[in-house]
Amino acid sequence: MNKGFQLFPEQASTLAAQVDYLYFFLIAVSLFFSVLIFFLIYVFAVRYRRKSEQEVPEQIPGLLKLEILWSVIPFLLCMVVFVWGATLYFDTYSPPKDALEYYVVGKQWMWHIQHPTGQREINELHVPTGQPIKLTMATEDVIHSFYIPAFRVKRDVVPGRYTSMWFEATKPGEYHLFCAEYCGTKHSQMRGRVVVMEPADYQNWLSGGVANEPLEVIGEKKFRQLACHTCHVDKPDARGPSLVGVFGEPVRLQNGQTVTVDETYIRESILNPNAKIAAGYRPVMPTFKGQIDEVGLLQITAYIKSLTKE
Ligand code: CUA
Repeated sequence: MNKGFQLFPEQASTLAAQVDYLYFFLIAVSLFFSVLIFFLIYVFAVRYRRKSEQEVPEQIPGLLKLEILWSVIPFLLCMVVFVWGATLYFDTYSPPKDALEYYVVGKQWMWHIQHPTGQREINELHVPTGQPIKLTMATEDVIHSFYIPAFRVKRDVVPGRYTSMWFEATKPGEYHLFCAEYCGTKHSQMRGRVVVMEPADYQNWLSGGVANEPLEVIGEKKFRQLACHTCHVDKPDARGPSLVGVFGEPVRLQNGQTVTVDETYIRESILNPNAKIAAGYRPVMPTFKGQIDEVGLLQITAYIKSLTKE
């Protein structure tokens, strides 16, 4: 942060250098052809200029070799960019299995962040180096975009659904965090900082903070507060389906379809319970719209995720 004039932000994640290499390659190709074309325009203008008043230009028939050459070279170049770009895109969008999951909620005009261990932060994100981190993101109001230039990651946060992104920080330090989608009058103030620490320092930071309960414990409290546990009991004749061990598993619906229980399905089932009813149950669950915000939804989701079969 604040290192005077810099053309590029620091490279502080595992993907940053790779994104930059691709970017440099695109610039190099564009520069090469721009210079070549300007040079040839100049050479041709001089060489093939009209030399006398009576001169009639000679007709030039097509030249197959040349046609093939200037079709194949751009095609190959485009394929290189496509394969390279697509590979990098997949890397950027598929978090590793061992990624720690953090939750981010955007709100006019701040970022609300929850650690898996329960710590909560506003406009600050503390992370350890060498640990892949997945952010699951939601918004309370309009579209925002979570952007950390030094990590070369940016993802829109869209109302009504979850988006996610991941990164692995490599260098301890402080980096900018921006909202990169115009979201109202104070959009420009919706920014913060990412603090990257050595794993040991991060552990210290975690334990030094306010004694927080893990996310799933907070979620369980909310679950009881809203009386979800009166119907969702782990018994065969309960009014609602058991939630033990359901996360990540397929569930059969009344209409015969099957869906996988993920963050999006849980969110929808809380806000709009009648949309997808599990087979064998009646549509008796009321909506909890207005009684729970995005932060609460993520806490309950964390709780449901933690309910694994022994
Ligand atoms: Cu949030 Cu711009």
